[in-house]
Amino acid sequence: MGQEEIEDELLAITKEIGAAIAWEQEIGGTFGLSPSSVQLAPIETEPVAPVPAPSVEPVSLEVLASDAARCTACGLHQGRTQSVFHRGNPNAELAFVGEGPGYHEDQQGLPFVGRAGELLDKMVKAMGYGKGEVYICNVVKCRPPENRTPVLAEAKACEPFLVGQLEIVKPKMIVALGRCAAENLGLTEPGARGWRGKMGEWNKIPVMPTYHPAFLLRSPQFKRQVWGDLQAVMKALGRTPA
Ligand code: URA
Ligand code: SF4
Repeated sequence: MGQEEIEDELLAITKEIGAAIAWEQEIGGTFGLSPSSVQLAPIETEPVAPVPAPSVEPVSLEVLASDAARCTACGLHQGRTQSVFHRGNPNAELAFVGEGPGYHEDQQGLPFVGRAGELLDKMVKAMGYGKGEVYICNVVKCRPPENRTPVLAEAKACEPFLVGQLEIVKPKMIVALGRCAAENLGLTEPGARGWRGKMGEWNKIPVMPTYHPAFLLRSPQFKRQVWGDLQAVMKALGRTPA
C-alpha cells in the first residue's frame, strides 16, 4: 500500500467508528440510557447472555421492572421466585440501595420486607419520612443463593437496571446500605476499610455509605454511627428528625 492508500484506509475506519458511535447515541445505548452513564462491564470468562429483547424506548420504571422480570443476564435468575425491582416513591428525594433480595423479598417481590426491612423502615421513619416516601432498591434484582453477597459479575450484569432506575428517579441523595452497595456505586474499593460515613457521589448525586440494617441486627452497637450518617443526610436535605 502506498502512503495515500494507507491514509484512505485510516479515514474509512475513522468514519466507520464515528457512524457506530452516532448510531449508539441515536438508539440511546443500553436501555435508552445516555451512553456516558453506562459503564462497560469487564470482560468475563463466561459469556453473559443479554437480556431478552431489552426495551429501548420509552424507558420507564415499569419497562425496566418488566425487563428485570424476564432477565437471564446472570446466573441469579435460576434461583429466583421472581425478580425484586423496587418499592416506595418513584419521585423520592432520597433513595436507599441495598444488596439483593433475601427469602422474604424473593417471595413477595418487594425489597426490604423481612427483618432488615423492618429496621430500615424504622430508620426511615426516624428521619421524618412517611411510609412509602423514599425509594428503595438493591444492587441485584434476583436473590443470591443462601443470601450470599452478589459477586462482581452479577452486580455488573444487573447494573443497567440500577443505573436506569436511579436515573429515572433522580433522587437528591442516595444512601448506600452496606459495603456491596457502596462498592457498586463506586464509593469504595473492594476490601478497603473505613468506607462508612464518607459521603461521595454517584453520577453527581451525593451518596452516603453506611452499614446495612442486617448487620445492625447482629451488631446493634453500630446503630449510633448509622444514625449519625443519616442525620448528615437529613442536614444535607434540609430536614429535621421526627
Ligand atoms: N437485604 C438487602 O440488601 N435487600 C433486601 O431487599 C433485603 C435484605
Ligand atoms: Fe438479570 Fe439482575 Fe436477575 Fe441477574 S440479578 S438475572 S442481571 S435481573
